[in-house]
Amino acid sequence: MKKVIARSPVNIALIKYWGKANEQLVLPTTTSVSLTLTDLWTETTFEEGSFNFELNGKQADSNETQRVKDVLKHFRDDRVHIKSKNNFPTASGLASSASGFAALTVGLNHFFQANYTLQELATLTRIGSGSSCRSLVDDFAIWHRNGSLTSITNPFEDLMMLVVLISEEKKAISSREAMKITKATAPTYSQWMKESEQDYLEIQGAIQHKKLHQVGNVMERNSQRLHQVMKNSLPPIIYQQPSSLAVLNLVKDARKKGLIGYATMDAGPNVKILIQKSQLSLWEDLLKQKVKCRYLVSRIGGKAHAE
Ligand code: PMV
Repeated sequence: MKKVIARSPVNIALIKYWGKANEQLVLPTTTSVSLTLTDLWTETTFEEGSFNFELNGKQADSNETQRVKDVLKHFRDDRVHIKSKNNFPTASGLASSASGFAALTVGLNHFFQANYTLQELATLTRIGSGSSCRSLVDDFAIWHRNGSLTSITNPFEDLMMLVVLISEEKKAISSREAMKITKATAPTYSQWMKESEQDYLEIQGAIQHKKLHQVGNVMERNSQRLHQVMKNSLPPIIYQQPSSLAVLNLVKDARKKGLIGYATMDAGPNVKILIQKSQLSLWEDLLKQKVKCRYLVSRIGGKAHAE
């Protein structure tokens, strides 16, 4: 019996996507930039059979199933049994939908031998989750406003990401809904768009010139700008919890003491810290000492693939 297994890493944005210029084509209002996390992934298996979608060992709910069907209808057949599982907590601001849809699209492409090109796959996977297209490429993935996907070679050999799990509960409001509210109601949204484009241009130069400090600073600033524009929405959208803010401060203080690390947050309370591998044990000591929550450690790199 035909069986395909696809795996996709999570991607974490350094320059964030938060809003669609075109809802139907899922074109973003701003350019975003991300890195994939090698050790946090979705694995999806595809087998012949009537359509069914299982997520983390359970029948997926109707909303999740519909999103999968929306992608599936672009393939020649829908007789496929899909089982997807994440090796990290689902829907806690860890972009599980991004790795999930990247694995889904690349896996379906292989299963039905559709031979879609990278840009075509990017268009399809965006139907499920906009940011998922960035998991289709390695290195610094760039999702442009016109929808195209490019990458810049990662010149930093020893980067790692720590994911501090402030809460492992499902988020109260989905990024899909929340970004619509921000775009429609935040008076500072157009200013945020302009600043975000400037951040993109600056980080692009910093990556090319291998300036980690500048990459980190722009990444932190861009995350702060995102959470500010979210707060300016009506109703305000607040993903940061008091413990998230404590971790952000910890990162700032650690830098004053000579550690290298930069923090970013997405549509959830968890904090991701970009660090250098050579300082991993120092960061782990600090987290164990000062933060009571669990954290995940991941290497950087990789992309969605199927066999
Ligand atoms: O693609 P979505 O709907 O999961 O939205 C992702 C939004 C952020 O994670 C907050 C930012 C980003 O660019 O990944």
